[in-house]
Amino acid sequence: RRLVVLVSGSGTNLQALLDEIAATGAEAYGAEIVAVGADREGIEGLARAERAGLPTFVCKVRDHATREEWDAALAEAVAAHAPDLVVSAGFMKIVGKEFLARFGGRFVNTHPALLPSFPGAHGVRDALAYGAKVTGCTVHFVDDGVDTGPIIAQGVVEIRDEDDESALHERIKEVERRLLVEVVGRLARNGYRIEGRKVVIQ
Ligand code: GRF
Repeated sequence: RRLVVLVSGSGTNLQALLDEIAATGAEAYGAEIVAVGADREGIEGLARAERAGLPTFVCKVRDHATREEWDAALAEAVAAHAPDLVVSAGFMKIVGKEFLARFGGRFVNTHPALLPSFPGAHGVRDALAYGAKVTGCTVHFVDDGVDTGPIIAQGVVEIRDEDDESALHERIKEVERRLLVEVVGRLARNGYRIEGRKVVIQ
């Protein structure tokens, strides 16, 4: 299976996938990363891809006249690598109709909270501010909402009294990286069906 990974930041989830595939072998893992895309230049996620010798592309919203044109351009850039599965690993843009028309049903995202709680760009901060006792991470298929698609897997992380946002996010990311590697491998190896809100992995 061919994976395209989309990033916007440090790319530690991308790195976890790269390390797992290097350790296990693409054959046994069931997938290989064929390209990495981003919405901005100069991020560690792109540097990680380049160090791994992977093709990269950057699709910036401000380079396009409209959001729809950006969405179509992103879809084109991803499609050029003929992915079977697209993985958003810290990609911080909401894709639109064109992208979902082409990749819906094979586009997964990882979110650092237990959806449906705390969706959006500040899930870690929101859980902390709310005074939640546990939070976690969610790997889900992307639909036309924000962090609302069918849930594939979740991992629970305790919130400690002394936590600040970055300490909590780091603890979440330890679970998240393992969950993403496990889920992507299973989806790639076994195939899956989406039945309403249920995801059935063969
Ligand atoms: C991850 O926790 C992801 O869920 C969130 O941002 C973080 C990205 O981390 N959206 P990285 O870029 O993979 O290190």
